[in-house]
Amino acid sequence: MTKELRLHLLALPLALMGLVVGVLLIWFDPVAIAKQQPTSSIARGSVGTPGPPVPLAVALTADELEVVRTLAPLGDPPDDPTNQHEGNSLAARLGHSLFFDTRLSSNNAISCATCHDPHMRFADGRDTARALGVGTRNTPTLLNVAHQRWFTWDGRDDSMWAQALEPIEAPLEMGSNRVAVARLIQGDSPYRTAYERVFGPLPPLDQNRIGGPRIPEAARPPRLDVVDMNDDPLADAWLGMRELDRDRIDRVFANVGKALAAYQRLLRDDDSPFDGFVRGLSKDGTTTTSPLSASELEGLRLFVGKAGCIRCHNGPMFSDGEFHNIGAPVPGGGPPRDPGRYEGIQLLKKNPFRAAGRFSDAPESSRAVISEALVNSPENWGAFRTPSLRNVAGTAPYMHAGQLATLEDVVEFYSTLKGATQLDHHQAALLEPLNLTQSEKDDLVAFLRTLSGSGPRNEELLRAPSGPLGPVLGQ
Ligand code: HEC
Ligand code: HEC
Repeated sequence: MTKELRLHLLALPLALMGLVVGVLLIWFDPVAIAKQQPTSSIARGSVGTPGPPVPLAVALTADELEVVRTLAPLGDPPDDPTNQHEGNSLAARLGHSLFFDTRLSSNNAISCATCHDPHMRFADGRDTARALGVGTRNTPTLLNVAHQRWFTWDGRDDSMWAQALEPIEAPLEMGSNRVAVARLIQGDSPYRTAYERVFGPLPPLDQNRIGGPRIPEAARPPRLDVVDMNDDPLADAWLGMRELDRDRIDRVFANVGKALAAYQRLLRDDDSPFDGFVRGLSKDGTTTTSPLSASELEGLRLFVGKAGCIRCHNGPMFSDGEFHNIGAPVPGGGPPRDPGRYEGIQLLKKNPFRAAGRFSDAPESSRAVISEALVNSPENWGAFRTPSLRNVAGTAPYMHAGQLATLEDVVEFYSTLKGATQLDHHQAALLEPLNLTQSEKDDLVAFLRTLSGSGPRNEELLRAPSGPLGPVLGQ
């Protein structure tokens, strides 16, 4: 058990308190109640029309069936109290527009959708991301992203809205800055209207206050991940601004993140063949919907049994949401260079947009309390978040730096641990070579391929909208 996990356990009573409050809030929220009524997640699935019960191609034991039922259905993502606008459909429409807007980048050519391509399951098919420069991490899918607890491979963000702000300013990604973003919202009348409807009036950006310096055209704070702060004119411009102006700009920037999060919350995929299969499972181990093939079922048995995948890839996201060092091979060989969770915690603690920060709508929520209580430890070095396996068949290549090209390669890795780095006694306890036979490997891959559905039901979510002020879109 990592220190972090132990802390989670300590924080459980607090989290439960938060849950009770959350449940009460939902209970009295007519919007939330209305939202629950029309579409039950059972009626929405596109696979698995019920038929007469048929026996499974490979019989599963009662124990296996019990574990299988913990993997589906996915259900609705949890609410994020730190973003009070997350369920707001106008905010989602604004975020939808921003997601596809290349003006959020310094060269006016890159949008979020450049790397999170809706037609590539909101990933990019590359080993590591490429935009203004070449990144060091693989682009994750955004389908079902609102179910995550920590964001990015190292979990350096504790909310989706805080995460959304990073690529906009990252020099290798979109290379823009928060003042330019505030100016974009202010200067584009549909954006301005949409923003003000959701978040209230924009602050003045152009007025020259008597005695006070003017807000520059472009500015952003010194980067959190760079020690050497020399030679960064944007940072100098930022540090030259009045604190009040910096705070106002930060607030607009945070709200842009909150709108982007409201859109991303709608990006769901919960109707995979596996979901259809679990939906039709009856107690006696027969199924009324889309039975899986013998090979897929053998793969499922291995997954929840002998191969031990379920130890980390568990729950309806097929992820424990935690961080492990599985020694995935280093890109290009050599010693591991990516500190993973170790640096993730350091960055989280410094981030003014974290759940406990002043731009959060619930700085005392259990989410925030858990983040504040995190204690870093050397065993976090080289650990990455267990990725969700939903949609995994469509999001090659794999691992945090895309170092494994196919699902076959991933299963081969778990079978032999060949090329594994850093397997000290702690990680060795987590993983041992599985020495799988060829047919077991084929079965595991066949099972992993049952975890992709057809994506968001509303196809409008997959393309740029006509602007931030059109009809409101549901999921
Ligand atoms: C240059 C390509 C690129 C662009 C542009 C980009 N992203 Fe990403 N995105 C990535 C990569 C790579 C990661 C993983 C980063 C890491 O782990 O350090 C990521 C991670 C994420 C995550 C976390 C997903 C998870 O499972 O934790 C979200 C959410 C996200 N991006 C949303 C956005 C939004 C919103 C935008 C636009 C404002 C955007 N991205 C722009 C490449 C990109
Ligand atoms: C000890 C926890 C643990 C166990 C056990 C485990 N995994 Fe993983 N898995 C991870 C972590 C952590 C990563 C990401 C590692 C990285 O990027 O460095 C990962 C990555 C993956 C990926 C790549 C996904 C992507 O989007 O890049 C697949 C596929 C996968 N695991 C499948 C499996 C299968 C199949 C098994 C059982 C044979 C298994 N895992 C067992 C923790 C685990």
